[in-house]
Amino acid sequence: MKKILVTGGAGFIGGNFIKYMLEQYEDVFICNLDKLTYAGDLRNLESVKEDSRYSFIEGDICDKNLLNRIFTENEIKGVFHFAAESHVDNSIAGPEVFVKTNVLGTFQLLETARNFWMSDPFVVKEQYKNARFLHVSTDEVYGSLGEDGFFTEETSYAPNSPYSASKAGSDMLVRSYYHTYGLNTVITNCSNNYGPCQHDEKLIPVIIRKAISKEKIPIYGDGKNIRDWLFVKDHCKALDIAFQKGRAGEVYNIGGSCEKNNIQIANLICEILDDINRLEKGGSYKQFISFVKDRPGHDRRYAIDSSKMMNELDWRAETKFEDGLKETVRWYIEKYKELL
Ligand SMILES: NC(=O)c1ccc[n+]([C@@H]2O[C@H](COP(=O)([O-])OP(=O)(O)OC[C@H]3O[C@@H](n4cnc5c(N)ncnc54)[C@H](O)[C@@H]3O)[C@@H](O)[C@H]2O)c1
Repeated sequence: MKKILVTGGAGFIGGNFIKYMLEQYEDVFICNLDKLTYAGDLRNLESVKEDSRYSFIEGDICDKNLLNRIFTENEIKGVFHFAAESHVDNSIAGPEVFVKTNVLGTFQLLETARNFWMSDPFVVKEQYKNARFLHVSTDEVYGSLGEDGFFTEETSYAPNSPYSASKAGSDMLVRSYYHTYGLNTVITNCSNNYGPCQHDEKLIPVIIRKAISKEKIPIYGDGKNIRDWLFVKDHCKALDIAFQKGRAGEVYNIGGSCEKNNIQIANLICEILDDINRLEKGGSYKQFISFVKDRPGHDRRYAIDSSKMMNELDWRAETKFEDGLKETVRWYIEKYKELL
């Protein structure tokens, strides 16, 4: 039985990941530790809450006594660390909690894993010899790209927002635990995820909600900021593979090879809505798109080179963007049906 700790499992990616793992494996036991901040929503896990292979603990990753208890009581042999403050806009308004959760929280988790799995630096206790700490991070640590080029695992860090700076700090701590103590770590840096169960505040849910409410759809600046979009289920599979087959101490970039700017995303969503929920008065949902003042420090372009994941671990993003986006729009139409 694989006993794993998932942090932040009531959030978007963590919740999708828990469901993915329970579907994939019979012999897994997942402990989900989540503080249930505004971003956590246990409704994301309604379908698995009675599963005997799953347990939920409400708590903070900064609480070292709680972490010790969870590791000891559950004999944790693997960590998938998703818990974070994750919204760039919030990090501009209030950066402190980003440092607390993303940096100090990651530190407490690393310390707990080290003390629990290892007897000395580079000496792993026999029963934990395959135990591994997978840290989920972001491509935003690399800063912004010009019109050309891609982020590789060798790209220098250049975080531009308090969010990305705090994630960069957490990545550095994870790296140091591998080099200093020999903790078995893997870091993944992924691009923008999309899919069911993402928090209402993020770009794609905002576009869908505003459109079906027939309100202005706010697009920052000129709408030309480019992101590389990754369907969340493809990401979950990549994390599972990186955990099982990745090399200790390595970094793997995970991208969707799907660059779109914000205005393209808004147009595509409006076209999907035009098809499945025609406006009574005719016309397209595109009429609601409107441009608003840009976010300070708004990175222009992110794009990931996933060739290390593809060549070394035989993973690639499989979902066509149009298909993933349709699935996502349908999921949110159900969620927001009272707004229609
Ligand atoms: N969503 C993306 O597009 C994206 C892209 C790149 C990287 N990431 C990274 O992936 C991870 C998951 O992102 P997400 O979009 O699912 O985030 P999310 O905001 O949807 O979920 C975060 C979860 O962490 C929990 N949490 C926050 N602080 C906590 C604490 N102190 N202790 C315990 N739990 C806490 C929240 O309650 C929430 O359930 C994050 O580390 C994020 O940096 C996300």
